[in-house]
Amino acid sequence: MNGLGANQQLPGSGSIAILGAGSLGQLWAGYLPAGSVAFVPRPTPEKEPGASLAYRLERFDGSVRPVSVPWLSVAAAPPSLLLVTTKAGDTLSALEPHLPDLPQGAPIVLFQNGMGSQQSVAERWPRQPVLAASTTEGANRPEPGYTVHAGKGETWVGALTDSATPLLRQVVNTLAASGLTVHPEADIHQRLWDKLLVNAGINAFTAILNCRNGDILNHRFYLEHIDNLCEEIAAVMNAEDCQPLAPHAIRQRIEAVARNTANNTSSMLSDRQQGRTTEIDFINGYIARQGQARGIRVTVNQMLTQQVQQLSADTKAGEPSNHTRPGAS
Ligand code: PAF
Repeated sequence: MNGLGANQQLPGSGSIAILGAGSLGQLWAGYLPAGSVAFVPRPTPEKEPGASLAYRLERFDGSVRPVSVPWLSVAAAPPSLLLVTTKAGDTLSALEPHLPDLPQGAPIVLFQNGMGSQQSVAERWPRQPVLAASTTEGANRPEPGYTVHAGKGETWVGALTDSATPLLRQVVNTLAASGLTVHPEADIHQRLWDKLLVNAGINAFTAILNCRNGDILNHRFYLEHIDNLCEEIAAVMNAEDCQPLAPHAIRQRIEAVARNTANNTSSMLSDRQQGRTTEIDFINGYIARQGQARGIRVTVNQMLTQQVQQLSADTKAGEPSNHTRPGAS
């Protein structure tokens, strides 16, 4: 923390740019003060300069408001803060064309799921203030032009690069102007792991079994692998200097979330159903890579990663996407 007053603003124009106009990007754009936010266009020539993205946002209190957010390039309107709400796998390539135009001191806040993409950005631009956010806010788009704030959550933000540390309080205050709950987090690595371990125990199983979160709990495939999975997660967390967590405590956390979100379609199953690239490489794939690099046995993480990758490959090759993997019955 830098001792700056709570009202101190970020330097520059004061505007906020959002890269990634999906559900989460639209949620933040809809809650942040009107007129302060713009979406950054991806390389899509069809977007006219000056055009806006218009949609309706159903807030958590049930009220529905029209939102209109301009598309503005970073070069045309250098922001004071850049939020990145792309899929984990798109983050580096989405940021690359904009970094030369981003003011040097402007913080970047990364909202990606899983782990690995945030570290790649911090390594690629070590002098830029880079922060990561871990959020439990839930949003979805049941129909085009309509975004729903489906789950009221909280967001923790922490610094990934040295130059981000003195800006943390200002970034948190800027995001909190949305009315959403935002906290500074001194140990964002631990916070990201706390979410990662839950995603590692739910998402791949739901994608492979083609079922809602709660349905994994009594499934033979889940019951066969969950204890070994939790052993692997505990060992890799230990090697990554996280707070030690016993495998049975990891399983309890996974199952508490699976029960609390029993009727939810996980983000990975939803990606699979929509034919989108999943974030498996940044969830079980990340744990498998970290484990392998340290000589830790990670066979369940590898198996889940391969099965989800294979399902995506089958879907792209035109195979039906509503089947489960043969070994998962
Ligand atoms: O990725 C998701 O869908 C969520 O993080 C979780 C916890 C699995 C609940 O659906």
